[in-house]
Amino acid sequence: MSNLLSTKPYKGTRDFFPEEMRFRTAMFETLAKTVESFGYEKIDAPLIEPLDIYLAKTSEEIVNQQIYSFVDRGERKVAIRPEMTPTVSRMVAQKIRELPKPVRWYSIPNLWRYEQPGKGRLREHWQLNCDLFGAANEQLADLEILQLACEIPIAFGANHNDFSVQVNNRRILNSIFEKKLNLSEEKWPEVARILDKRLKIAESEFEQMLASAGLSASSIELLQDYLQNGTDFLQKNDDIDGVPELLSLLHNLEKSGYQNFVQYAPGIVRGFDYYTGLVFEVFDQNPENRRSLFGGGRYNNLIGNFSKDSLNAVGFGMGDVTFAEFLKLHDLLKTPPRQMHAYIAMFEGEELNAIQLATRLRKSGLNIETSVGAIKLGKQFQEAETKGYNFVILQGSTEANNNVVQLKNLSTGDQKSVSEAELLTIFKNA
Ligand code: HAM
Repeated sequence: MSNLLSTKPYKGTRDFFPEEMRFRTAMFETLAKTVESFGYEKIDAPLIEPLDIYLAKTSEEIVNQQIYSFVDRGERKVAIRPEMTPTVSRMVAQKIRELPKPVRWYSIPNLWRYEQPGKGRLREHWQLNCDLFGAANEQLADLEILQLACEIPIAFGANHNDFSVQVNNRRILNSIFEKKLNLSEEKWPEVARILDKRLKIAESEFEQMLASAGLSASSIELLQDYLQNGTDFLQKNDDIDGVPELLSLLHNLEKSGYQNFVQYAPGIVRGFDYYTGLVFEVFDQNPENRRSLFGGGRYNNLIGNFSKDSLNAVGFGMGDVTFAEFLKLHDLLKTPPRQMHAYIAMFEGEELNAIQLATRLRKSGLNIETSVGAIKLGKQFQEAETKGYNFVILQGSTEANNNVVQLKNLSTGDQKSVSEAELLTIFKNA
């Protein structure tokens, strides 16, 4: 038996080798640039939180099946964050009086969920969170969050044929539960969760689940009418709450030029109990990848878990796994090349000349890697080539005294003597 340890990362997690890291960094840079253009400021917080903050009002599935939790050495029950929304709410509540409103914050935390790893689902993922708190007008805040959800894929060059934003309002659902189905309030989350699963299960299984939850045949029929008939159902049933809010949102989206990107979708529920109004999911439009890319909604009561003051809130979370797949599938982001200028080779006995040259060139703004040992020159050139360099620089003591270097172009094989000052112009224009 071998006693070597496995080199694989823990199940459902990823190692990021340099090339993968370059892709991730480029993706995050565009995300940051886009949300910062709307005035969102970056925050971060600890990986571990008290378990309580997830128990109060989040997703039953996350709390019961997916949370990484443990008791620490001081007997405190803690959890590795499975989502950022409770943390962000805790932070806003901490400074609720002094923060200038509206608060626009974003973060890109790594989150942990004990999931069965599969396509687009891992145990550790990074998630862009954008949240807007304390807006004077909630309708305009909903509009901005949806605008942002559209502008993120657009920033990578996507258009409305590539993705669609599907919106709903929890108040509509709750009102149907209350007024049309006469369900007691404790039953709402259970029925909402069944609706949330609808797209992932067969029609018969869906109806079976509703029946097991205690819904009559006529209630199930009404839900089917609601799910299948879009705004027609809403117009027929004008006693349902939240309808004017939804219609005005659709109107605002149209007036702002986003009507091709956003549609009303009664099947959108979202699996979190804290949503109180707008809920939405963004879907890939590619027939091979019709999956949810990200989602969010309005959660006006979560801050109330941490503070006597209340503050309205709306936001979304977008995972790096699903979004990177989207970008690759639609050919919207390539792994950028390394940002390196030249490789410095060294002569035996003159290694420190090379090191000093590297220091000077770095100080003048070039990215320089050196060989680490005066092995045969041919081998050093090979090292540089394998690492993707086009240029190698050599400088012996005589050249150093004259402030010149030998510049070798690996693709043409040319080698010429140039001054150190000229090097800068060559690379800045390359
Ligand atoms: P969520 O729908 O659970 O919402 O996650 C948001 C997104 O994170 C998903 O659409 C997906 O892109 C990604 N994601 C979630 N779980 C995984 C996983 N196991 N593996 C890979 N990607 C995953 C929330 O977390 C809410 N807290 C979002 C929010 C922010 N609502 C308001 N503000």
